[in-house]
Amino acid sequence: MTAQTVLNKPADPVDFKNAQREQWDRSAQGWDTHSQIINDWLRQATDAMLDLASVRAGSSVLDVAAGSGGQTLEVAMRVGEQGRVLATDLSPAILALAQSNARQAGFKNVQTLVADGEDILVEPASFDAAICRLGLMLFPNPLQGLRSMHRALRPGGAICTVVFSRPERNPCLGILMSTALKHAGQPVRDPFQPGGLMSLGKPGLIDELFNKAGFQHTTTTSLDAPFRLPTARHYLEFVRSSASPIQQILGQLSVPEQNAAWAEMEERLEMFNTPDGWIGPNELLLTAAKR
Ligand SMILES: C[S@@+](CC[C@H](N)C(=O)[O-])C[C@H]1O[C@@H](n2cnc3c(N)ncnc32)[C@H](O)[C@@H]1O
Repeated sequence: MTAQTVLNKPADPVDFKNAQREQWDRSAQGWDTHSQIINDWLRQATDAMLDLASVRAGSSVLDVAAGSGGQTLEVAMRVGEQGRVLATDLSPAILALAQSNARQAGFKNVQTLVADGEDILVEPASFDAAICRLGLMLFPNPLQGLRSMHRALRPGGAICTVVFSRPERNPCLGILMSTALKHAGQPVRDPFQPGGLMSLGKPGLIDELFNKAGFQHTTTTSLDAPFRLPTARHYLEFVRSSASPIQQILGQLSVPEQNAAWAEMEERLEMFNTPDGWIGPNELLLTAAKR
């Protein structure tokens, strides 16, 4: 079975993760190339995530689904030479970029470990804080992921995750998805299907999962994080370079068919043009808790 067919179905978790790994390995460079745009977009969310996870000088931090390390470098800066950060990810290719980005930035307190976030093999109770920026919603079993982070934290250790909120608050994602599905002749999908971009945006769900995983004092805050770019096309260039489900759906079409879908997305996304450039609405959920 290929990666492209797997993610279309409520997949077997192993097939699903193999497909994720393949796709992120392939898109690693594209994601990293857009790191400036991503860091600008997520600046406020990242600062808030680190505050809520009590990341400070000397902390030992587990960074789950770290990608090419945008937030890892922020942690490395905050924790300083007395602290450390372990960046983990399912995709070896994207994690290699995190490692080289850390090296180039001169950080000696960053280590990396290729690991499925649902089963992170680190010493139990060995971290002060755990963070996960835009990764948890991609796990087929996010509860398992939270249990894995819970195990890694010392008693009293803090966690904060960032995920997309619900469809009404993320219309750009809705436009991308509905246009891609229409062009691929596929039926509308349940946005809360596990592993989907907005799967943890279902009101109340993420708090419930945190509590089930054994965390205490769980609180979720929503944060406006609009994309501010010169045009809708710039946004689509970013989407096209990452391992989004949109790429996976359109990957089944011929190139002219794909181009027709991208053109329609661009036309629909132009509704967010403003005199100050293109501003795509986007809402995130920050969930924080203690072990
Ligand atoms: C949207 S990117 C976010 C990367 C980074 N945290 C950031 O904000 O720039 C999602 C990341 O989740 C990783 N990922 C997906 N499923 C995973 C899993 N089961 N375990 C660990 N990482 C996973 C992907 O490889 C990818 O690097």
